[in-house]
Amino acid sequence: MRVFIFFIISITMASMAVFLSFVQKSRKDLFRKTRKHGIIRTILEAASVTDEETYKIPERHLQRSRTMTPAQFLAFSKHPEQETQAVSRAAEKMEASIQVLKEKLHQKRKRSLFPSDLLSTDVLSKIAGISGCLPHTLPPKCPENCMTRKYRHITGICNNRLHPRWGASNTALARWLPPAYEDGLSQPKGWHSGFLHNGFPLPPVREVTRKIIETSNEAVTEDELHSDIFIVWGQYIDHDLAFTPQSTNQLSLLGKVDCQKTCENQSPCFPIQVSANDTLPMNMDCMPFYRSSPACATGYQGVLLGNLSTLNPRQQINSLTSFLDASTVYGSNPAIESNLRNLTSKEGLLRINLQYFDNGREYLPFVDRVPSPCAQNLKADKVERIECFMAGDSRSSEVISLATLHILWLRQHNRLAKVLKKLNPQWSSEIIYQEARKIVGALHQIITIRDYIPKVIGPNAFNQYIGPYKGYNHTVDPTIANVFSTAAFRFAHTAINPIIKRLNAQYQNDPNLPNLHLHEVFFTPWRLIKEGGLDPLLRGMLTTAAKLQVQDQLLNEELTKKLFVLSNNGSLDLASLDLQRGRDHGLPGYNEWREFCGLSRLRTETDLATAIENRDVAKKIMELYGNPNNIDVWLGGIVENILPGARTGPLFACIIGKQMKALRDGDRFWWENINVFTDSQKHELRKYSLSRLICDNTDLTALPLDVFMLGKFPEDFESCENIPNINLGAWQETLQPEFTCGLPKRVENGDFVHCSEEGKSKVTYSCYQGYKLQGEAQLSCTKKRWNIDPPVCQDINECENKTNPPCHSSARCENTKGSFQCLCTEPYELAEDGQICTDSGRLPKSSVVAIILGIILCCCLAVASWFMICHCRTNSAGGSTNSHTLQDGRNLSAEGHCTNCHEMNASQSSITINPADKDNPSPCILLCM
Ligand code: HEM
Ligand SMILES: *[C@@H]1O[C@H](CO)[C@@H](O)[C@H](O)[C@H]1NC(C)=O
Ligand SMILES: *[C@@H]1O[C@H](CO)[C@@H](O)[C@H](O)[C@H]1NC(C)=O
Repeated sequence: MRVFIFFIISITMASMAVFLSFVQKSRKDLFRKTRKHGIIRTILEAASVTDEETYKIPERHLQRSRTMTPAQFLAFSKHPEQETQAVSRAAEKMEASIQVLKEKLHQKRKRSLFPSDLLSTDVLSKIAGISGCLPHTLPPKCPENCMTRKYRHITGICNNRLHPRWGASNTALARWLPPAYEDGLSQPKGWHSGFLHNGFPLPPVREVTRKIIETSNEAVTEDELHSDIFIVWGQYIDHDLAFTPQSTNQLSLLGKVDCQKTCENQSPCFPIQVSANDTLPMNMDCMPFYRSSPACATGYQGVLLGNLSTLNPRQQINSLTSFLDASTVYGSNPAIESNLRNLTSKEGLLRINLQYFDNGREYLPFVDRVPSPCAQNLKADKVERIECFMAGDSRSSEVISLATLHILWLRQHNRLAKVLKKLNPQWSSEIIYQEARKIVGALHQIITIRDYIPKVIGPNAFNQYIGPYKGYNHTVDPTIANVFSTAAFRFAHTAINPIIKRLNAQYQNDPNLPNLHLHEVFFTPWRLIKEGGLDPLLRGMLTTAAKLQVQDQLLNEELTKKLFVLSNNGSLDLASLDLQRGRDHGLPGYNEWREFCGLSRLRTETDLATAIENRDVAKKIMELYGNPNNIDVWLGGIVENILPGARTGPLFACIIGKQMKALRDGDRFWWENINVFTDSQKHELRKYSLSRLICDNTDLTALPLDVFMLGKFPEDFESCENIPNINLGAWQETLQPEFTCGLPKRVENGDFVHCSEEGKSKVTYSCYQGYKLQGEAQLSCTKKRWNIDPPVCQDINECENKTNPPCHSSARCENTKGSFQCLCTEPYELAEDGQICTDSGRLPKSSVVAIILGIILCCCLAVASWFMICHCRTNSAGGSTNSHTLQDGRNLSAEGHCTNCHEMNASQSSITINPADKDNPSPCILLCM
């Protein structure tokens, strides 16, 4: 009998084991590596390691912990969009692969640092191809048709026909001076603690912040001329121009490093050291910092791709179009653009938030991937989540004032589009979208160059560096310079108010809308949606003075101690980030840039005091840096004496001036360039202003004519009726060329625009994102007939793309109409990037099922065996085992309980069954061992 029971138990165990091993196996299968041979295998291994390990840690945090650390917010706000990710990851893989190769070859032959002589060009281009760098280094084609002649490409490509990548998104930033890396190629300034620059070590950036930059929240000198919205516009425009993605790679090649944890300089981590006596709210040894991603074919990679005699030092990426083109509204790549558009509307609209409205006016839609990291109102019920906004730039929710500007422009686009549709009912939704986009872009340019920049750099620098417009110059490279985005245009970090005000319709403080500290408005879209919408915040921005940049009042503690602090889990420091970023990007020192701008080099403390009025500050800087050549350019720029009528000193005025000139003169679609707008359209556009934008898209009825100037309510406020507006009549198409041939046929999943060329009318078809054109894109009208049939838009099977697969190898790719899906097998779930499967930390569904099945099986077997045993026992009397099976009825107590084992001196394991029927009680079994 015992044998029989053991037999049953072993069968149960065995079947459980089979189940579990099956589950384990499926886990291992997931990260199976591709096997290739030789060098390529090494590369693939390096590349796949980088890929697989990359997202695990932070993504899990994102999913699980409800409040994120400031460093995670920074990682989120600097996290590249998919397309950028592909570019930066390609470069990172390439760099990783090359470092691995370098080490392997170095071990073999100790003589050569750069092994390029050992690798054939064939192998090199293979590396480039595998890592994904190749497509980003080849020149693109620039087709000529109605579409490309009339409208900017979303990526900014082909703006300059000879240099199609100038100003395009996801290309390298420009260097106006050669970089200053510690190894001349890639390592940031300050990487090696013992490294001396001009005889002195660089001071830790946090030291510089504490000794020179940081001031208390109360130390704010008001700018008597400018309003807060003047500063917010700066940030908004910066986000039209530049976004430097940071490294997504959390591995150094020597071992795993988690940049959130390590305090050592190990690529790509370059943590900010914090001294023991620091007064940060949390005890931190360092603040995490990820290096910005390298661009393809720069840094170590350049050594191999290029040519030993022409080293190509590490360069950083701008994932946005450089152009001033409202990419904040429309995005900088086709995937984002198509996600922002409402492709079902006939009016060329942008998608809006269908859940919430601001007094009947639109909000931006929420991001697709939820839960997003944006903070929630902790007092509200947990059911209703308010996610981050989705806009053309991924940082739109960073502060609510910035989100306000994004939302105003969304409303503006949709308003314009509806008017244009009324004026030109014959226009396709594509034409309306593009025309509205073109107007919105022009308005961004006008407000920036006419109203904003002169107040930043002052009238003299404006004339000196920018001057009047003389037409498009195809020799000018508009690409954003590294020094512009990493230093100069961060000047306004010194002009950010630590307090945010919201005012009621009488421009008074309202008890329902208390003043907020800046740190309370980071990543908090709920404060707009649930606390009165845009209007109270705008009233606050219009009538609050901007903070003035004063040499001993640079950044308030809200930014140096509480950046992105939404809970008590650490903090960041914007000043230290800015300084560290400059070193990460290898920006040359302050004096180098002064010389670049034709300003004198400052050699002594006395020299320094001529540029920095505040002697005390000049002295402290000398003490910290030792040699003026070592001064970080951002620091030098923000402490300089302000130019008359400006808000920056001479150095930043020069850099900003030069960049703005390049953005204007090197832009073929600049609004004033010939053949971009008609004269009457230009005349109308000139009338527009930021105050009109607010009149048109909010319930405010009076505004200062120039909202960048500080206004007192109500003296300085002009009724909206008196604020000039555009007459869109200038966009009414009198000539309707398509009617000579009839309207061109519409295509599914695509649209057309038309134009006339040499008196002939033409149409160009384009397909929506995810579809490809089959047939000729351009038709022309000859002899009252379209010369050929229109093309069709065919779904692209993204999953078939083997060179740059849309999903990571850990995920399964499934094609859908116009798109694709990456799917994960349990227990893995899709990471934020939508491509990689990460460990969810949950038990896989299949294991849960297996366990349940196992338990059921056990129970069944137990019950079955019990029946069997009972059955056997009743028929075989007085068996002599210490498993006592009591016979029916006999030992059953009145309540129907079985007799206990201890009567027999044995431990008990009993199954008690209540008899359903007292006269005929069911069997009772007691196993005693
Ligand atoms: C509350 C307001 C602001 C906050 C919280 C903020 C925060 C930040 C942060 C966290 C970064 C990234 C730092 C790094 O890791 O390198 C950054 C970058 C930058 N900020 Fe600000 N900023 C603000 C306002 C402004 C303003 C007013 C301007 C300009 C007028 C500005 C211009 C820039 C520029 C040009 C960059 C570099 C962008 C890039 O290339 O990726 N910011 N800011
Ligand atoms: C390498 O660079 C040198 C100097 O710039 C140049 O003369 C040579 O043609 C380059 N070689 C290749 C293969 O690009
Ligand atoms: C798209 O446009 C249609 C019609 O204009 C509208 O009904 C719909 O709500 C819009 N959808 C979004 C997400 O904006």
